[in-house]
Amino acid sequence: MENIYPIFDTILSREDKQKLLKQRAIVVWMVGLSGSGKSTLARALENTLHEEGYLTQLLDGDNLRVGLNNNLTFSEEDRKENIRRAAETAKLFMNAGLVTICSFISPVEKVRQRAREIIGEGYTEVFIECPLEVCEQRDVKGLYAKARKGEIPDFTGISAPFEAPTSADITVNTAEQTLEESHQILVQQILDRIKY
Ligand SMILES: Nc1ncnc2c1ncn2[C@@H]1O[C@H](COP(=O)(O)OP(=O)(O)OP(=O)(O)O)[C@@H](O)[C@H]1O
Ligand SMILES: [Mg+2]
Repeated sequence: MENIYPIFDTILSREDKQKLLKQRAIVVWMVGLSGSGKSTLARALENTLHEEGYLTQLLDGDNLRVGLNNNLTFSEEDRKENIRRAAETAKLFMNAGLVTICSFISPVEKVRQRAREIIGEGYTEVFIECPLEVCEQRDVKGLYAKARKGEIPDFTGISAPFEAPTSADITVNTAEQTLEESHQILVQQILDRIKY
């Protein structure tokens, strides 16, 4: 029998959503130590892209850990699960056509590789580079002081490993650049990738 309601059979693709929004959807995956500037630069980037007319979504480690991932600890196993859920969520937003900006420490290559595999084409790794000494000096949340006193187990850079990314698509160095400089580099690099 002829299908008189073909519209019910149409599965909309990422391309359809991108066409509607007139933007290319990617996942901007920010990697870096605590205090390196991920959340600061992610918020700044989102604000600028929004002003430029792009539809965006921010996924931040801290926010996800109070909601979707509130049953997870910082053990190696749970960190893996944290990133798996984050990457799956990012992929959903990306496939809905949004420029999705993620800020998670994502400390080791294995975990980043997983995110890269889950997200697939569109995964854009950004290394927010900053020496441990500088992050520790900033100690925005007072976590380094606690970690040094042994009050926080498995703290990245102190008692848990951090492997600097070697295949990042974009790198900014927040110890050598001003916030404005790092921001400008990111905006320019990302705009190039999301223009329709
Ligand atoms: N060039 C720079 N780029 C970004 N942040 C900078 C820069 N220079 C100094 N800062 C400061 O560094 C701090 C970075 O803190 P932020 O919360 O963004 O780090 P984070 O990477 O999100 O850490 P966490 O993983 O703990 O969430 C902020 O106080 C910011 O003002
Ligand atoms: Mg943060």
